[in-house]
Amino acid sequence: MQINKQLQTAELQVELGERSYPIWIGSGLVLRLGELCQLKDLSTRSPMLIITDESVAALHLETAKQSLTEAGYNVAVHIVPSGESSKSLANLEACITTALQAGLDRKSTVIALGGGVVGDLAGFVAASYMRGVRFVQVPTTILAHDSSVGGKVAVNHPLAKNIIGAFYQPEMVVYDTSTLLTLPIREVRAGLAEMLKHGLIWDRAFADWCLEHASDLLSLKEDVLQYGLYTGCSVKAQVVSKDEREQDLRAILNLGHTIGHALEAVGHYGELLHGEAISIGMIGSAMLAERLGEDPEILPYTRRLIEAFGLPTQIPASYETDDIMSAMMHDKKFSEGEMVFVVPTAIGKVDIRRDVPVRLVREIVELLKRGE
Ligand SMILES: NC(=O)c1ccc[n+]([C@@H]2O[C@H](COP(=O)([O-])OP(=O)(O)OC[C@H]3O[C@@H](n4cnc5c(N)ncnc54)[C@H](O)[C@@H]3O)[C@@H](O)[C@H]2O)c1
Ligand SMILES: [Zn+2]
Repeated sequence: MQINKQLQTAELQVELGERSYPIWIGSGLVLRLGELCQLKDLSTRSPMLIITDESVAALHLETAKQSLTEAGYNVAVHIVPSGESSKSLANLEACITTALQAGLDRKSTVIALGGGVVGDLAGFVAASYMRGVRFVQVPTTILAHDSSVGGKVAVNHPLAKNIIGAFYQPEMVVYDTSTLLTLPIREVRAGLAEMLKHGLIWDRAFADWCLEHASDLLSLKEDVLQYGLYTGCSVKAQVVSKDEREQDLRAILNLGHTIGHALEAVGHYGELLHGEAISIGMIGSAMLAERLGEDPEILPYTRRLIEAFGLPTQIPASYETDDIMSAMMHDKKFSEGEMVFVVPTAIGKVDIRRDVPVRLVREIVELLKRGE
């Protein structure tokens, strides 16, 4: 783990040429948000806008605002309700109304203070307001170690998730681990699912480390959590640096997501959390690997890892196989009875397979429903 000596905090660089940016990870960084904004030369002459949600506002907004105000920033705030439904065009417009009323100009900065929902919404506000203003991510969920890195920003359309969006990189990611202490345990577990994914697709040693440190990660032990977030962000950053716009490699980040997204859709985005749905999806991908003749260790290992974090491995019995299959067909490209899937070939390695028979996927969905 690299330490920035001047800032006394862990630092990671997302390498994207002139759009490269740092991720700072440490306890208490929101208290220093103003100082970090000055360090990045964000203008104090133009008003700033913090976008956050109701739950995060009640817990962490005052600290952020005070730090920025003390550093000389003039700060406006827009608060949206908590939850996925805030990623809407209506909220995009409402945020832009607040920005206009507060007098934000081309030199202004938009700050996302919250989880993936706020990050995606605020990022798209920053990308579209006056054709783009500066943007800072201040993630407050574990899941956001994934969503705040890589520059995908979006809102939802009633017919499709994340369908109105952009690639838009932030100036910096300020990851204050102390904000995570207020997360409900279910959100902690679900966020850690993406960390496990980063081990499973890229780095066996990291997956082993997660398994070994499951209880410390779940109890948010500071040094363990910091290392886990750092390494998870670093996997994401390496993948994104090689393939920013998802031409090929970036697709490996979708391990477990083909089945996972379908389960979220069937549960109307309210029953399973994203991390729970992709946990079941990762088990499904491991089953697929087994059927396709890959390393026999993959399935038992994946199961052990996911169970160690108390994450689900089974599709709720009330979910209809036909509904799941049809949601999957809408989500991913498929042609002539075959689907595109991220399939593990070993622990820490995956392949993109474009030849997975729909019939086999259906069989696996059935097995996942029976919990076999
Ligand atoms: N852009 C990307 O690359 C990318 C990647 C993965 C996921 N996503 C998106 O991320 C979203 C999910 O993100 P999420 O899981 O962070 O959801 P979220 O932002 O809805 O946060 C989950 C819940 O935790 C609450 N919360 C947030 N921080 C808290 C804190 N510190 N203490 C207490 N409560 C807190 C929120 O109010 C919310 O109720 C989805 O919309 C998904 O599409 C984007
Ligand atoms: Zn995900």
